[in-house]
Amino acid sequence: MTRVILLGATGSVGTSALEAIEAGPFQLVGVAANRDVEALAAIAERHRPEMTVVCDPDAGIELARRLSPLGLATDAGADALVALAAMEADRIIIAIPGFAALRPALAAVEAGRIICLANKECLVAAGDIVMARARATGATVLPVDSEHNAIFQVFEPQSEAAITRIVLTASGGPFRTAPHEAMARATPREALKHPNWSMGAKITIDSATMMNKGLEVIEAHHLFPVGPDRIGVVVHPQSIVHGMVAYADGSCLAHLSNPSMVTPIAHCLHYPKRGAAPVDPLDLVACGTLTFEAPDETRFPALRLTREALLSGGVATNALNAANEVAVAAFLEERIGFLDIARTVEETLSAIAGMRLDVGTLAAVEDTDREARRLAQLATAAPATT
Ligand SMILES: NC(=O)c1ccc[n+]([C@@H]2O[C@H](COP(=O)([O-])OP(=O)(O)OC[C@H]3O[C@@H](n4cnc5c(N)ncnc54)[C@H](OP(=O)(O)O)[C@@H]3O)[C@@H](O)[C@H]2O)c1
Repeated sequence: MTRVILLGATGSVGTSALEAIEAGPFQLVGVAANRDVEALAAIAERHRPEMTVVCDPDAGIELARRLSPLGLATDAGADALVALAAMEADRIIIAIPGFAALRPALAAVEAGRIICLANKECLVAAGDIVMARARATGATVLPVDSEHNAIFQVFEPQSEAAITRIVLTASGGPFRTAPHEAMARATPREALKHPNWSMGAKITIDSATMMNKGLEVIEAHHLFPVGPDRIGVVVHPQSIVHGMVAYADGSCLAHLSNPSMVTPIAHCLHYPKRGAAPVDPLDLVACGTLTFEAPDETRFPALRLTREALLSGGVATNALNAANEVAVAAFLEERIGFLDIARTVEETLSAIAGMRLDVGTLAAVEDTDREARRLAQLATAAPATT
């Protein structure tokens, strides 16, 4: 049995991961969430892992009360999460959203683990550090994000010099065809209605602004040896083609599957072999038409902001990620409008550009994250964009 740790077990990716785990020769040995004790305890009772962790210390008391009588070990707090990430296992799935995943991800990297990485924010904020440490420790980072997993599956490392372009597809989100005025008035409820994927709130809002695709371009830059000028985005509303790699001989290899996270997770769990996953087979006749469009950077400025941040280097992507997390939270709390998310990120990036901030260490990344969050909070207090 392959020993698996799952961080973020109660979330959207976590739920898909449990489906993949239950369908294969996998043993869940560690499991974690933030504070949903009810759901996490149910998972622990079913799988009987060696350790169950909640990040929220208060939730830890209730978790222990539920699981200790069953002889199941529990722990709580951010340090416990980091310790769990370093626990012995054959695979660790990191499905926590946001910057909070960085320390656990680095702990797994330092332990030299095979990491099935769903979280993209840790690479956006600190991809140079994470990937450099992985090379040093022998850790393997397998991409769970569907576009990157798709590219990983059709990326021929032996032909690296002949790769002309990698392409990420985007559904376009709920506002793909919406006019600017409607986007200015968009409510969290409208923005949370993703046409193809059922996901956590943060990534769903990122999909609506297309910040998600911009974050994925940065993620791709760290995962694959391809410069920013050779990473493209194509809008593909059906979400059947997830990623493509174009080669110098004119070949373009694409990966297709139904839009279910179970497929990329199962791919990472079984890699380098393939195993079965509890998903419907792809039926192209039922899909009918597959369409592709160029992204609109005027209505979706997040694509431009992420590209500019990637090209400017230094602390820019680190700050962009922090500002976006603050702005998305403010939008979900209805403190700012939908278009203010990109405005907040842009203002934060402008302010941070004039500052002298260190790069290259975890402490420096955390300092930039803090400073960018402070600036973004100030930006969210400004009047709404129309
Ligand atoms: N959803 C997708 O289809 C998808 C696809 C590709 C990539 N991703 C990426 O995968 C990550 C997770 O996305 P998601 O949609 O699954 O999110 P989600 O549905 O919101 O689930 C988040 C999970 O992480 C836990 N969590 C949140 N903050 C935590 C913390 N500080 N410490 C420990 N656990 C914490 C939550 O626990 P509680 O339930 O206790 O709050 C929950 O189990 C994101 O980075 C996202 O960009 C998601």
